[in-house]
Amino acid sequence: MKNLGILLSGRGSNFVAIADSIAAGRLSNARIAVVISNRDEAPGLETARRRGLNALAISSKGKPREEHDRKVVAALQQNQVDLVCLAGYMRLLSPWFVQQFPSRILNIHPSLLPAFPGLEAQQQAFAYGVKVTGCTVHFVDEELDHGAIIVQKTVPVLDSDDEHTLAERILEQEHVAYTEAIRIVLEGNFEIKGRRIVRGQRSEVRLQK
Ligand code: GRF
Repeated sequence: MKNLGILLSGRGSNFVAIADSIAAGRLSNARIAVVISNRDEAPGLETARRRGLNALAISSKGKPREEHDRKVVAALQQNQVDLVCLAGYMRLLSPWFVQQFPSRILNIHPSLLPAFPGLEAQQQAFAYGVKVTGCTVHFVDEELDHGAIIVQKTVPVLDSDDEHTLAERILEQEHVAYTEAIRIVLEGNFEIKGRRIVRGQRSEVRLQK
């Protein structure tokens, strides 16, 4: 059994999708060991508590990045987390944090990276006028929205879309993509070749500590 640690800052729909996948047996070897938010008032925290999960607020307000990260990493380690899943965590991780979990931190981003990194990716894509966008689940490295890509899902931009309807359809795909990516990583049936995640090969990145 592998322990997931979820980090979020807001509504938490990706967290809920992961929790639902576990409940439905789509991620049979995983459990959520802890849900952590850097914002006390994140609705996702309340959802986690209602589901009986271990949910912690570790406020980042006014704290230097690494000081806050040390508290978060300590909580992840106390809960013996194997894989960290960023799910709408609106805070950059310090290089130190990333180094504590090598190839064991995932992030989801609502565009087809490397297009439209950063904030409001769905709106960026809509305003640019692309005809296809989507979402990306990737390993986290020390650069923003940058690490090796595990899963991408495409979403067509319809003539009838506005940025809200587009974001909603991307979100549906995010919920599918995150479970797929976690399954791939936990199964360990892949190899990291440079930036490429190639499946069907035994991973050198084992999730044992
Ligand atoms: C998602 O669009 C995710 O891709 C981005 O932040 C949003 C979080 O949404 N990183 P939710 O809190 O999971 O509902």
